[in-house]
Amino acid sequence: MRYMMKKLFIFVFIFLGLNVVNGCPFFLSKYFVNIHSSIRNDNVTLRCQSKDDDLGSHVLSPNNDYEWSFCQSFSRATLFFCHFWWNNNEQIFDVFNSTMGEWCREGRPEGDICRWLVREDGFYFYEPIEYGRWLKQYYWKPVSKTSLTYG
Ligand SMILES: *[C@@H]1O[C@H](CO)[C@@H](O)[C@H](O)[C@H]1NC(C)=O
Ligand SMILES: *[C@@H]1O[C@H](CO)[C@@H](O)[C@H](O)[C@H]1NC(C)=O
Repeated sequence: MRYMMKKLFIFVFIFLGLNVVNGCPFFLSKYFVNIHSSIRNDNVTLRCQSKDDDLGSHVLSPNNDYEWSFCQSFSRATLFFCHFWWNNNEQIFDVFNSTMGEWCREGRPEGDICRWLVREDGFYFYEPIEYGRWLKQYYWKPVSKTSLTYG
């Protein structure tokens, strides 16, 4: 019975054109966005969104990761941006777009990972191929009066 269910499951996936390993349709790639905070003794609040998805606000505690995944095609360009708040500072930027997807060519059997690191001095993106290290991309800036609330 179990065996039959497994066969049926795989059949349904193939029928729908879904990749058995990562659940994406065969013509789409899977990506993970991973955001790690190494800010000591303090939480970072963040809210990440795409055109279609609002992942909601999330509290990221020290030395923890926030991660999500999605299926992305080369034609239908997915873009995710996040708004970050920490200690009266904030920042907002794109954490994934199609160009960055090309820079995240490493990861897991299911898909590639785009990595971000949040530190007291700013935001770093991991470039695995050309540099093989964290590259600083943005600074924190003081919270503006118009965005005191999360969201
Ligand atoms: C960080 O968040 C966790 C879980 O939401 C909470 O228990 C903890 O008190 C927070 N720490 C600080 C420094 O705000
Ligand atoms: C994606 O973001 C990077 C870094 O901000 C930028 O250089 C690039 O032009 C963007 N690509 C697209 C397709 O928007």
